[in-house]
Amino acid sequence: MKKRIEMQADGSGGKRRRGPRARKKGASVDPKALTEVRALLGEASRAPDLLIEHLHRIQDHFGHIPAVHLVALASEMRLAVTEVYEVASFYHHFDVVRVGQEPPPDLTVRVCESVTCEMLGAHALMDALKDALGDAVRIQAVPCVGRCATAPVAVVGRNPIGRADVSGVTAAVNQDATEAALPDAIDHAAYRADGGYETLRRCRAGDFRPEDVITRLEDAGLRGLGGAGFPAGRKWRIVRDQPAPRLMAVNIDEGEPGTFKDRYFLERDPHRFMEGAC
Ligand code: FES
Repeated sequence: MKKRIEMQADGSGGKRRRGPRARKKGASVDPKALTEVRALLGEASRAPDLLIEHLHRIQDHFGHIPAVHLVALASEMRLAVTEVYEVASFYHHFDVVRVGQEPPPDLTVRVCESVTCEMLGAHALMDALKDALGDAVRIQAVPCVGRCATAPVAVVGRNPIGRADVSGVTAAVNQDATEAALPDAIDHAAYRADGGYETLRRCRAGDFRPEDVITRLEDAGLRGLGGAGFPAGRKWRIVRDQPAPRLMAVNIDEGEPGTFKDRYFLERDPHRFMEGAC
């Protein structure tokens, strides 16, 4: 059975004790942390689907997520502390720091250690980077960052460096180059000028009925590229047959080693994706 992760207000993990005293301790919120969390969230909605965005606000502000702020966020969003902790501890972009624990250095270099990068020397690169950069920079092994075509990959802050070696990563660190450079993309005006969003307009105007669109997808034989090759038309039909309200989640995580198609496409032709999703 999957082990439940519990977290108390002091940030310690461990089994939840039953009884009023244990519940009170688990629910106590640091007033100062709560004030700071409210200031960081501002007027933003407290709806639970914004949890990751709000965790990012705290992470970006402090460089990590102090446990007391995690508890305050749970209170502010009316979520269980365990729910917030499970999300925050799942993603390597969040650093939950317990009371008394040393926060991580300001800069982290993430080195992908999934299959493609590992085959091209990821662990040797990590060892060499630790020697070259010392304790001032954290070197963290992470799963696939969706850039397998340029393995091995290191991410300096938020700046991915393909075919990474010690000199390239060290140069980025020394130049404080921590943000990604985006490639040229087809912008909104260029997309519209080339007929973009016209199909969406015609769908909304009733020129294309939902049934016709799904049939066209089925006839085209379009399949997913996530591994199962599931027919896209059949998937859309299954969703349409469900009772409303229907919710759609767009998965662009690309956690599978060897995949980078979605990022490549989204960086260069984002409106085509937006039109399709709409
Ligand atoms: S395996 Fe390293 S970026 Fe995908």
